[in-house]
Order: sequence, then structure tokens, then C-alpha cells
Amino acid sequence: MSAGEEAASAQTQKTEEQPQEKQAAEDKKDETAAAPEQKPSEEAAAAPESTEQAAPQPPEVTYKSLVLNAHGGYDKVKLQNKKGTPKPKAGEVLIRVKACGLNFADLMARQGVYDRLPSLPVSLGMECSGIVEELGEGVTDRQVGDKVMVLNRFGLWQELVTVQVSHTFIMPDGMSFEEAAALLVNYITAYMILFDFGNLRPKQSVLIHMAAGGVGTAAIQLCKTVEDVTIFGTASSIKHEALKEHGVTHPIDYRTSDYVDELRKISPKGVDIVMDSLGGSDTCKAYNLLKPMGKLVLYGAANLLTGQKKNLVALAKSWWNQFNINAMQLIPSNKAVCGFHLGHLDNEKELLIDVVVKLLDLYKQGKIKPKIDSIYPFEQVGDAMRQMQEKKNVGKVILVPEVPKEEAKKEEN
Ligand SMILES: NC(=O)c1ccc[n+]([C@@H]2O[C@H](COP(=O)([O-])OP(=O)(O)OC[C@H]3O[C@@H](n4cnc5c(N)ncnc54)[C@H](OP(=O)(O)O)[C@@H]3O)[C@@H](O)[C@H]2O)c1
Repeated sequence: MSAGEEAASAQTQKTEEQPQEKQAAEDKKDETAAAPEQKPSEEAAAAPESTEQAAPQPPEVTYKSLVLNAHGGYDKVKLQNKKGTPKPKAGEVLIRVKACGLNFADLMARQGVYDRLPSLPVSLGMECSGIVEELGEGVTDRQVGDKVMVLNRFGLWQELVTVQVSHTFIMPDGMSFEEAAALLVNYITAYMILFDFGNLRPKQSVLIHMAAGGVGTAAIQLCKTVEDVTIFGTASSIKHEALKEHGVTHPIDYRTSDYVDELRKISPKGVDIVMDSLGGSDTCKAYNLLKPMGKLVLYGAANLLTGQKKNLVALAKSWWNQFNINAMQLIPSNKAVCGFHLGHLDNEKELLIDVVVKLLDLYKQGKIKPKIDSIYPFEQVGDAMRQMQEKKNVGKVILVPEVPKEEAKKEEN
């Protein structure tokens, strides 16, 4: 199925029943109504007044959760208070979340054009960092107090989460919770595209779309680990200084110029790798920009998003302009066309662990370091999504359940 068709059918498509979906269904049972709208129940209101002094009740334990209730604009992700404390099952750990990553896929999920979510309502969030608070039965390779980063298909934008221990990775010394929440999705994606599919080697050239964003910054840093790589990066012009500082050789403003013309002026033969996060007509341009033996890796469909809500014209346009090629045309082309979707690799634990080990090694050597654009408390999730969707971010947008005390003090003053 093409990216356009996939997106168009995403709302009605029922994915196969996964353990994570069962968990989501169970979670829904525990949900309370959105905190500000909570009203006393009718029974409580009608109860006769007791003459005896009631024994003081312990305060009800709740935890914050960002829940997508319906598809649409920024207001569709609501902060709710869920009751109780989740209990880790066998093979799971309970984590107190300190920071969460916002991904482009979360914007698509909000609009109803992302295929890896169970039915609504659902807590969003595919990456976070935090501290292990409890171990489920049989968990021996984590300890209470471990600082971890977590990858999951959804459900991590919460103060407390239970996840399979295999979805957690120990944070290295010196890494902040914000950095840890910014690492997994962006760097695994960029690494697998550039090195597993792309086979990037010295003196080659790469075109990175959305170069100043989360995956873009990760890709730039990873390109810099290989000698003499020429990086073409598209982004809004206001970000070009930052791109140059990060190591982009040729920043291109795709909003005011034709990036294909600009690139060909510098490199008439094109590039060795195109990281295509746009889809639609840009995939065809990417293919035509490849040098002999070049590789196109399609991994996103950002062209589908044109505003806060799902845009059917953009969906139709992307689908209509979809790049098509048949196997026999590929032989004489001497080019490779690949597709990458991390959300469909969630059961490939060994593959993912292998990449994370390499990434943490690069982090420890100081060769990669997540760039944080901004940090928003859960309460301002709409502003966080706006920051990304209005094309303002340079690096990663982070959400935090609690504003760090120092920050809160600064705001008060
Ligand atoms: N397949 C996978 O497994 C996978 C995993 C992670 C991410 N991705 C894809 O990688 C891409 C980047 O993701 P990310 O999470 O790192 O996001 P991001 O790059 O931080 O996204 C925000 C930036 O994208 C640019 N942009 C281009 N077209 C846009 C549009 N139509 N709407 C809003 N912004 C647009 C804007 O910057 P400029 O205008 O300055 O360029 C904006 O600041 C996305 O397409 C995402 O779906 C795929």
C-alpha cells in the first residue's frame, strides 16, 4: 500500500490484536474524566449528612496522562488524571516518567493519519525517560532506581507507565532525562536509514529533508561520524545558521526555492542517499536526484500535514503524486528504493538493541548529542505540538509531567 493510501485508510484500519492494544483497552477502564471537568457524583450529593465525624481518608492517588480523545486540532489531546498506581505484570517494569519526546508521528496520530495506534481514546507517546519504580515478576536485568529510556508504540505520555522490560534501555552516566527522551526514535531512525539501508561511506553525499528537526539533527550528527560526507539539508531559512553550525554543507530553503535546482547547481550528478520524510511528489524528485548506485529511503509523509486538522486534499494529492516503479525498471536504474518504519519494527528486539548499543557508544564518545529545542509541561501539550507543526523547532520538542523546581521558581520571579 502506498503512503497516501495507508494514511487515507488509517482511521478505519483495524491493526492485528497486539498485547499493547489489550493493555490500552485495560487502561481505558481505569481512566477518570478530565480533571477540570470532574463533578461530585449524584449519589454523593444526595447522601444524608452524617452527625459522626468521618475518619480522614487518605488522598486519592492519581497520575497525569495525556489522552487523545478524538482526531482533530491541538485541543484533542487532553490532560487527564488516572486513578491508582499501575501494577507491572510479569516481564514488565513500572517507570516514573521524567521526560517524553514529541514526534511528528504524534501530530499525524492526532489528525488520524497514523496507522500504529489502537482505537481511541488512547494515551499518546512513543518515547520517554524515567526511573524504574517497581519490577514485575521475573524481571532480573533491571533494578528499582535504574534510569531508563523507553520505546513503545504508544502510551508513554504519562507520569507512570508499565512497559515490557525489553522496551527499556539503561541511560548512560551524564545523560539528562531530556536527552534520553530525545534519543531513541530520532537516532535509531537516522542510524538505520544512513547505515543499514544507506551504507554511507566516506566522500559520499546525502540529502536530508526537514534537516533542522529531530531526525534531521540526528542524521546530521551521524553523517559527521563518516569522513568527508557532503550534507544537503532542506529547512526554513531562519534555521540555516543553526544548520551550518551543526555541519550541514549546503542548507537549502525549500520554501522559497526549488531544492532540486539548487542541489543540481552544486552537484549536477545528484547525491548518493536521499532521506525522504516528505512523500508525495517529493519521492519522485528524490529518485531522480540519485547518482548511480544511489539509495532513496522513504520514511515519512510530512506532506500530508498542512494544518491542524486532517486535510483530504493533501491526502489525495500525496496519493495521486505517489512515486511508482516496477521491478524491471529498477534493474537498469542502478538505484535502490527502501521504506523504513520504526513503528513496524517493535517486535525486532535484537535488531533494535544492536542499534541502541552502537548509538550509546557514539554518545559516550561525544560524537552524538540530542539537541533539545524546547521543553513544555504536560499542561501545555497544545503549545508543544504547535511549535513543531508551525515549523519553529530546531531539534527535539520535549514534554515533562512536572516542571523542574528550578524552572518553576524562575517563572514565579
Ligand atoms: N518511519 C519512521 O520510523 C520515522 C521515525 C521518526 C520520524 N519519521 C519521520 O521523520 C520526519 C521528521 O520527524 P521528526 O519527529 O524529527 O519531526 P521534525 O523534523 O522535528 O518536524 C518538524 C519540522 O519539519 C519541517 N516540516 C516539513 N514539512 C512540514 C509540515 N508539512 N508540517 C510541519 N512541519 C514540516 C519543519 O521544519 P522546516 O520547515 O524548517 O523544514 C518543522 O519544524 C517526519 O516525516 C516523520 O514522520 C519517521
